[in-house]
Amino acid sequence: MAAPWIAPSILSADFARLGAEVDAVLAAGADIVHFDVMDNHYVPNLTIGPLVCEALRKHGMKAPIDVHLMVRPVDRLVPDFAKAGATYISFHPEASDHIDRTISLIRELGCKPGLVFNPATPLDYLDYTLDKLDLVLLMSVNPGFGGQAFIPGALPKIAEVRRRVAQSGREVRVEVDGGIKADNIGAAARAGADTFVAGSAIFGSSDYAATITAMRSAIAAATPAAAGTVKV
Ligand code: DX5
Ligand code: ZN
Repeated sequence: MAAPWIAPSILSADFARLGAEVDAVLAAGADIVHFDVMDNHYVPNLTIGPLVCEALRKHGMKAPIDVHLMVRPVDRLVPDFAKAGATYISFHPEASDHIDRTISLIRELGCKPGLVFNPATPLDYLDYTLDKLDLVLLMSVNPGFGGQAFIPGALPKIAEVRRRVAQSGREVRVEVDGGIKADNIGAAARAGADTFVAGSAIFGSSDYAATITAMRSAIAAATPAAAGTVKV
């Protein structure tokens, strides 16, 4: 299993100081930055687009950017995010008319494709896509807002995705997103997640480094084998 990654969601950052906020979480030990894109159509909220992604790259941010598209349609925005410096681009299968085409488009443009599952979305979509994905994202809240409570039903789903990924023999990140805090991140790690999105828990804390360190300790305690894994 890959080394655990902490992915702060900038949805809960101070947008008036976004560059400094991103610098601060990376200095505090974050591995990757989670970038939530909402369109007031697929989800009932409106956030940020490719211009902001590009602005972070221009600001000098080198860490991977994990773009989570909560938009419909999907394909129109993929080239813009690829050009803006996205690393991973994930989308919800319900939001795309042609899932395989969207995955190929993301790959062709040099980004890593991910598929996102809402709490009630079945994993069947993985049957014919897992061999083309670099990431599977399990939502542990309904998408649209930060600061919601973790839905425990995500845990067996994480375990099932981990089982499928192991069976595939491929390197696919298993990411969990929504309501993750230092006190439940261990359960998600134990279930098989290796990439942990946390918005309000990190940006709402007064000491980003202390919060990220507490999260890492909880992950290490839950998965002793992963503690010494080399970073990839
Ligand atoms: C929800 C977003 C999440 C959100 C997580 O639709 O996809 O990434 O920002 O925020 P917290 O960690 O506060 O639940
Ligand atoms: Zn997200």
